[in-house]
Amino acid sequence: MEMIREYADWFYLIGAVLFILTLRGLSGPKTAIQGNRYGMIAMAIAVLTTFFVADNPVVWMIVGAMVAGAVVGIARARTVPMTQMPETVALMHSLVGLAAVLIAIAAIIHNNKLIELDPDLLAANGVNFHEMSRVHLFELFVGCFVGAITFTASVFAYGKLAAKKWAKTISGAWVKPVQAIIFIAMLVFGFMFFSTGNMTAFWAMTALALVFGWVWIAPVGGGDMPVVVSLLNSFSGWAAAGIGFTLENNMLIVAGSLVGSSGAILSYIMCKAMNRSIINVLFGGAMGGTAAPTAGAGEQVQRNHRSGSADDAGFLMSNADSVVIVPGYGMAQGRAQNAVKELANILKEQGVTVRFAIHPVAGRMPGHMNVLLAEADVPYEDILEMDEINSDFPATDVVLVIGANDVVNPAAKDDPTSPIYGMPILEAHKARTIMVIKRSMATGYAGLDNDLFYNDKTMMIFGDAKKVVEDMTKAINGTGH
Ligand code: TAP
Repeated sequence: MEMIREYADWFYLIGAVLFILTLRGLSGPKTAIQGNRYGMIAMAIAVLTTFFVADNPVVWMIVGAMVAGAVVGIARARTVPMTQMPETVALMHSLVGLAAVLIAIAAIIHNNKLIELDPDLLAANGVNFHEMSRVHLFELFVGCFVGAITFTASVFAYGKLAAKKWAKTISGAWVKPVQAIIFIAMLVFGFMFFSTGNMTAFWAMTALALVFGWVWIAPVGGGDMPVVVSLLNSFSGWAAAGIGFTLENNMLIVAGSLVGSSGAILSYIMCKAMNRSIINVLFGGAMGGTAAPTAGAGEQVQRNHRSGSADDAGFLMSNADSVVIVPGYGMAQGRAQNAVKELANILKEQGVTVRFAIHPVAGRMPGHMNVLLAEADVPYEDILEMDEINSDFPATDVVLVIGANDVVNPAAKDDPTSPIYGMPILEAHKARTIMVIKRSMATGYAGLDNDLFYNDKTMMIFGDAKKVVEDMTKAINGTGH
């Protein structure tokens, strides 16, 4: 035990390196499992070391909390369907925020090694601890208010994603001024606490931060919640890092900063891939506008498209040299991933080269398509990111778009008036033949018409993704190739 105390910083350093390797591993599907293993080892080292370095730990409480957390966590992990992953993640972030708030409160009440602010001034303000430095007050102030905002905002995001009645979107001209007033009041009380140590100011700041988290996120539209969840992930990391300073725990500072920065980078990537700014995502709803770009719905012009059957499509694909499959939200919605894998296998058996092209925001959550294809055991080497595959489309015989729409909309490249102009897309329109499976000519998430569907090279195959793909497979099987 003494040895662990003595070498605690070394153990933390090993943990920190393993956390960095975790992130590195998680950046690719092939290395993700190893990355997870590193993460588990790092977390075990972090928890055990902290357990041994703590002053007079109340063992039964810590072990009891760990066992209770593990039981709930394992039960949830075993039962949660893939489709409920985003809200589960939001709920977990809320716990990190809550933990930051509770630790800040505990640190203040406990008055551990808090130092040096003028004891008379503190006494005059009714503060019952004698040693408190400004820097600690500042850390507590930041950790606590960021944690409180993260807590209620994440609870709202959970409610919204899980379609709970209590998570009502709010809108109107009053929202922004109310948000601003609460935010400023929260900062004023925070500053009072920071400069005088006044406890009433601390409680007021915490309460206002809790309210702010809710009213800040409540105007955001449901479709933008994934970006918000990623941003809250980042916040929960910064809150943990802030509290790490208070507790003088290097591990918490490093791990919190890693979570904070990786969440911020992911939010940025998502916004860029959706051609949105983070300000527009977070405050678009509050400004009374729609959060996501919408089409000029009134200006529908009758345009011609060509449609075909699953049999025709199956025949064409089985005679192609190369097929690129572009999955989108519709594949997830229709739970078609296993049928798609089956189709890819049959085509491969016919000697066709089959690959999958993944857009960074295809679907409704980061990595949505990758997760579904992994679930269906599609080999990782067949799955290509947008930058890897885009130059191959002109030489591709058939591109099969399954329930994707915005991520293959050429308006993003050609039409400067389009709300999605500038968004990077999968350049499916450059392939020799294009096939699109969807149920109707309806728009996708961005509410925009899609020129790809009216392209001379395009064949629309209408129907539910799973059914159509199964019919294609049957048709190919029936060709006797
Ligand atoms: P979308 O543009 O949303 O289009 C999906 C298409 O799938 C729809 O046009 C729909 O047409 C079709 N569809 C739905 N259910 C289907 C089913 N059961 N069978 C067959 N087709 C079905 O999808 P996308 O191309 O994947 O683009 C994603 C969009 O979501 C982007 O605009 C992105 O910015 C946004 N977004 C993404 C994320 C993340 S992180 N991925 C987060 C928030 C927002 P029908 O109704 O005619 O069938």
